[in-house]
Amino acid sequence: MIGIFDSGFGGLTILRELRKLLPEYDFLYLGDNARAPYGPRTFETIYKYTLEAVSALFARGCPLVILACNTASARALRSIQQNDLPRIAPQNRVLGIIRPTAEEAGLFSQSGHLGILGTEGTVESGSYLIEIAHFFPQLKVTQQACPLWATLVENGELDGEGARYFVKRDIESLLNKDSEIDAVLLACTHYPLLLPLIKSVIPEKIHIISQGEIVARKTSDYLLRHPEIETRLIRNGKVEFLTTDTPEFFTKGASFFGENGISAKNLTF
Ligand code: DGL
Repeated sequence: MIGIFDSGFGGLTILRELRKLLPEYDFLYLGDNARAPYGPRTFETIYKYTLEAVSALFARGCPLVILACNTASARALRSIQQNDLPRIAPQNRVLGIIRPTAEEAGLFSQSGHLGILGTEGTVESGSYLIEIAHFFPQLKVTQQACPLWATLVENGELDGEGARYFVKRDIESLLNKDSEIDAVLLACTHYPLLLPLIKSVIPEKIHIISQGEIVARKTSDYLLRHPEIETRLIRNGKVEFLTTDTPEFFTKGASFFGENGISAKNLTF
């Protein structure tokens, strides 16, 4: 199976696009809902939690794990790839979603000014600034941390007055830093759920980039280039879900993400 990991429900926005493009593969989704959000947590904690999740997915038969979480990709991916993988499973692979997104992020801006909305962890890591500079050195990139957005989404607060207040505040803060921004990247897999609200407060001329479709295409490319991994994947088109919270909690929350009537199993580390 291809393992998909997120702090909670956000990775479902990536899984949806992966299943559209790669319907024949089996996926095992793990949401660490009991410990979400990751955004405000320290590097050490995010790394520890992510390593536990990756190890659990390896143990359940995933030779390839995608961190469908920007915060985990920013804080834990490099350490896991460099320090842990050679020790715990040298034949397996862990991929993040920042690099593949950065490879295309600059294509969406005409003005050469890109905005990034993400969690504190993602923004503080500076990972997007570093990665985007490799591919689009001329692009001016401005970041804004949105501390409460993932929590709003985890709790199904997608369109109330409270959600509107925080979404408006953080978007205004981003645009005040650079008024020439004409494309904004939603650099947290939870944020596509806030899209209707975001569109209602952001100027119409600004293009909004969601990552799911980009990550799906890049994963498909990766599988073509890596037959040694691809041939180890099962192709029955099945999807299973694991959560560190209760199965009932996951079933209810996943319905906001368009995954209706799914059943999840509990996983305790
Ligand atoms: N969905 C995650 C991301 O892409 C993390 C949200 C959180 O747990 O704070 O960054």
